[in-house]
Parts: sequence; structure tokens; C-alpha cells
Amino acid sequence: MARLSVNINKIATLRNARGGNIPDVVLAAKRIESFGAQGITVHPRPDERHIRYDDVLQLKEVITTELNVEGNPVKSFMDLVTTVKPHQVTLVPDTVDQLTSDSGWDTVKHHEFLKEVIGELKRYGIRSSIFVDPVPEQIENALKTGADRIELYTESYASNYDENAEKAIARYKESADVAARSGLGINAGHDLSLNNIEYFAENIPQLDEVSIGHALIAESLYEGLSKVISQYLNKLK
Ligand code: PXP
Repeated sequence: MARLSVNINKIATLRNARGGNIPDVVLAAKRIESFGAQGITVHPRPDERHIRYDDVLQLKEVITTELNVEGNPVKSFMDLVTTVKPHQVTLVPDTVDQLTSDSGWDTVKHHEFLKEVIGELKRYGIRSSIFVDPVPEQIENALKTGADRIELYTESYASNYDENAEKAIARYKESADVAARSGLGINAGHDLSLNNIEYFAENIPQLDEVSIGHALIAESLYEGLSKVISQYLNKLK
């Protein structure tokens, strides 16, 4: 069974909208673990507009499952992860002001850079994963960098799923076969949701882990609202 790592960046975004510490990301992470999720993912960006570097330090102290830290390995990011030593670092080629990740690495063009970064992570005993598009050549070259895993960028799967699920998954099946044959672990993430996750997991049996944030937090709001509203109505009686 693939493991679920919950990306809690959106909880930090909500907190940052007001100042203060509500919602508390550390408390939320503990609850998420207590409900059965097998990991917590954070994506600190250099401008700290979602998760802050200090959150990552605090989370490392309390997380009892797996901590996955995603990001572009700029100096401040590498300083953070080599201090925190999370279980896994996922390398993502996002620029500083990017709204969200929108492509995988070009593992051919950035081969030397990725190899160097992954070597550094290995020296600290950190598992590495490279965010890639579902393109066999990119995956073969990810292996040559020394990475332990790839994370398949699932945006195109998610956006085409409703129209033609079989067609949407085809490139991912092929990519997962290439990765599994070469011994790379397989993670996946971006725009996965309750609507599309089951079909993805069924068709990619080699899947090790999914990291899900945006849809999962939105779905939690929808599901949780009925409980909270009835509690308010009770108090107002
Ligand atoms: N994987 C990576 C590399 C990401 O950048 C993100 C978004 O921060 C995710 C997974 C999770 O995507 P979503 O929030 O759409 O579930």
C-alpha cells in the first residue's frame, strides 16, 4: 500500500493570513499523524510565505512518522535540511516567487548539479527524491544522479483524469515501469485528490508514497464544516 504524506503548507498559509499561531501547524501535524497519515510534507520557500524555516525545525522535534521536506536546493534550503536531517528531501526546480511547482527537473541538463546535491544529502543520511515529469529519459537520468526515488509530477494526470482516465495514466504507468526496473523508489504528487487517487494507486502498484496538500485540505474543510457548524449552533442555543 502506498503511504500518505500530508503536505501542510496550506495550513501555514491560513495561519500567516492573520499573524498569530492559528491554526497551529505543529498541532495540525500531530493530529494528521494521529488519524493515520504516514508522513508530513512541507515545502519551505525562501520567502517563507507558507511554511517557515522555523516551523520545519519545530516539526522535526515532534513528528513520529516521516518528515519530507521539498524545495529547490538553494543554499538556505540545504543549510536547513542538513541541520534538520528529515527522512526525505524532495528536490523541486521551483523559482523563488513561483505560485506552485509546475514542472519536473530536466535531469539531463542539471545532471552535475543534482548529483552534487544528492551526494551531500547522502553524507547526512537523508533519502533523496527528484521531482520529474513522466518522461522515461528523465527517469533514466534521475537514476544516474544517485537519487533514491523519483516523485512523479501528477498535474497532467489530474487535469486529464475526468476526460479519459486510461489515457491520463498511460505515461505514468510507463514511467513507473522504467523507475521500478532500475530500482528507483516511486513517489507522486500534485493535484491528487479523493476524485483521482484510487485509480492512480490501482494502476501504479509500485507506488511508495503520495504527498497531497491542496485538495486534501480543501476536502477536510468540506467534510469538517458540518461538524463545526453544528457545534456553533449548539452553543448559540
Ligand atoms: N509535490 C510537490 C513537489 C509539490 O510542490 C507539491 C505542492 O507544494 C505537492 C507535491 C502537493 O501538491 P498538491 O498541493 O496539489 O497536493
